[in-house]
Amino acid sequence: MAGSGNASPPLMAVVNAAVPTPAVCRKFSTRVLSWFDQHGRKHLPWQQETNAYQVWVSEIMLQQTQVATVIPYYEKFIARFATVEALAAAQQDEVLQHWSGLGYYARGRNLHKAAQIVVNDLDGRFPSSVDELIALPGIGRSTAGAIRSLAFGEYAAILDGNVKRVLCRHYAIDGWYGQTSVERFLWQVTEAVTPKQRTGPFNQAMMDLGATLCTRSAPQCQRCPLQKSCKAHALGTPTAWPHKKPKADKPVRATHMLLLEDSKGRVQLERRPASGIWGGLWCFPQFDDVQSLLSHAESAGTVDPAQVSHWGLFRHTFSHYHLDITPVHVRLRARSRSAVRETDSVVWAAPDEQPGGLPAPVSKLLDTLRRSLV
Ligand code: ADE
Ligand code: SF4
Repeated sequence: MAGSGNASPPLMAVVNAAVPTPAVCRKFSTRVLSWFDQHGRKHLPWQQETNAYQVWVSEIMLQQTQVATVIPYYEKFIARFATVEALAAAQQDEVLQHWSGLGYYARGRNLHKAAQIVVNDLDGRFPSSVDELIALPGIGRSTAGAIRSLAFGEYAAILDGNVKRVLCRHYAIDGWYGQTSVERFLWQVTEAVTPKQRTGPFNQAMMDLGATLCTRSAPQCQRCPLQKSCKAHALGTPTAWPHKKPKADKPVRATHMLLLEDSKGRVQLERRPASGIWGGLWCFPQFDDVQSLLSHAESAGTVDPAQVSHWGLFRHTFSHYHLDITPVHVRLRARSRSAVRETDSVVWAAPDEQPGGLPAPVSKLLDTLRRSLV
């Protein structure tokens, strides 16, 4: 996971919370660590030795995959590639064969490439600083923090999906965490709550807490060591955090509606095709531009330019787009013969007539028109 975040709108969101004070952070980490001592997972295969290579392999496998799925893959992988040298020397095909079933194969290819870099450029010594770890393919800022803390016992914060969820809930942090400003703030919070001592167990506990108690859809607050201080729990709606990615803006379409009125105050309406938007409802004739609207009016009768009025644009919103409607009212001096005839799908409706169903904006425009006639 890259620390810099995804591209996001150039808008600076104001984060609604402050980085917790050192005293509050100490309370947080103490609660998490005592929960870990009582309930944490301490017997996973990659927790048995603090061998950087093994921790690294496990962290890459765990990036998109749950612990239970990873265990058998991890064991077979380590049995075949016992050291970073063994992995570096292997054929890519064989590495990917051992990855087969785990998915996200770029992880396997990057692991192999990184092993060759460690062996060829770093004398086979796995780096321990966050900056050097990030420089290896497939290692983002959070994975670097996990490797540094779990394998070397050094201080480094992590911020994977589980930790983001726990922090967003505990501090009721608003905004979508994919947004750069929110992610940057979450990094400040995780760095503040992460203790300088026992960083590895703390990070492991945070990941386990998020995976087992503070789950996405059914957090078990009653069993959570953070319940007393958790804002989302106090507010009664823990699943309201983390906030979702904002929906993309709806596209905007535009149309001109012709309110064509004859000398008797009747208005032309067309029935829409049975399928599609407003299917089967009666509408004013619609046009992309004023020119085609006016030529339709002229084909229906004599248009006096003084009797053409452009009404203000208004917006009607559908589930998937906005429709900007420009109504144009045209009063005919006389109706031409051909336009007099009504068909199945064209009527001239008198002010008190309604041929069938009308979409809301059409009904609204008709009301306005009728009020202006009296
Ligand atoms: N996800 C990523 N790293 C993990 C770890 N060490 N334990 C559990 N889940 C993880
Ligand atoms: Fe998550 Fe509930 Fe614990 Fe808060 S109290 S961190 S919402 S499990």
